[in-house]
Amino acid sequence: MSTTTATTTSGTRPVLVDTAAALAELLAPRRATGPVVLVPTMGALHDGHADLMDAARERAGEHGTVVVTVFVNPLQFGQGEDLDRYPRTLDADLETCAAHGVDAVLAPSVDEVYPGGRPQVTVHPGPLGDVLEGASRPGHFAGVLTVVAKLFGLVRPDVAVFGEKDYQQQTLVRRMALDLALGVDVLTVPTRREPDGLALSSRNRYLDADQRRSALALSAALRAAADAGARGADAARAAALAVLDAEPGVDLDYLALVAPDLGDAPTTGDARLLVAARVGTTRLIDTMPLTLDQTARDDTHDPTGQETA
Ligand code: PAF
Repeated sequence: MSTTTATTTSGTRPVLVDTAAALAELLAPRRATGPVVLVPTMGALHDGHADLMDAARERAGEHGTVVVTVFVNPLQFGQGEDLDRYPRTLDADLETCAAHGVDAVLAPSVDEVYPGGRPQVTVHPGPLGDVLEGASRPGHFAGVLTVVAKLFGLVRPDVAVFGEKDYQQQTLVRRMALDLALGVDVLTVPTRREPDGLALSSRNRYLDADQRRSALALSAALRAAADAGARGADAARAAALAVLDAEPGVDLDYLALVAPDLGDAPTTGDARLLVAARVGTTRLIDTMPLTLDQTARDDTHDPTGQETA
């Protein structure tokens, strides 16, 4: 068994383990005292992750246990994606965990999670896994759901916390928990933004100063759409596209107006706008809720709600 108590500048809080057996031993006596709350991550932790940990701590209460997993899951990266250059920053991650009341960090090797290589049995995300991010990144959500199911099995949490920014991911994880009766309550935490609107992402560190400026067009487009929502769905889409089209540094992948459950876009009421774009070689996503006016006309409604560049 490999267990160490991580020493950090802010204390000696999280116990660092690299095997599921060590985690199971650690959690065994704690399960009776309160809920086990899991925050699955790929590391490179930022303030958005800190919000997930704070929400986890609150949900766990004084006597529950917060577990963060740090695992860069090869299954969810496609050919030519950034698996090799994905930032690995475990020491800094432990500092963040210590500052946000995390009790244990599981940072397993690929062999620990997938002994014997690629698993034979994987989770099929269904039709929702083939649209939006799934259309641009074939196989991505099968990889995500497979590792999340595996982490649920290894940690056996009562609650798991996900970020709103990965909106399709949290929708699919909720669906998986429901459809497969996994007994895990899924909690979604709002997106943390920089003061200028940029959604926090581990991939923001790939951006140089010019690219970061260009990347602001994503959140600006979503805000413009939210403001225009009172004039209907077409106006919302047009407002977002006008902002994106005006920024040459942004190569739009999709802008999609959908229902909150990712079904067909409504003409009125609550909706959700999702955007994905490449800025330089970095692929970024963002999302915002919006309310469409009940009376505004939308005669040219596209049932897919999707605009592709
Ligand atoms: O959102 C992430 O960081 C990852 O997709 C997750 C949920 C940790 C699975 O690898």
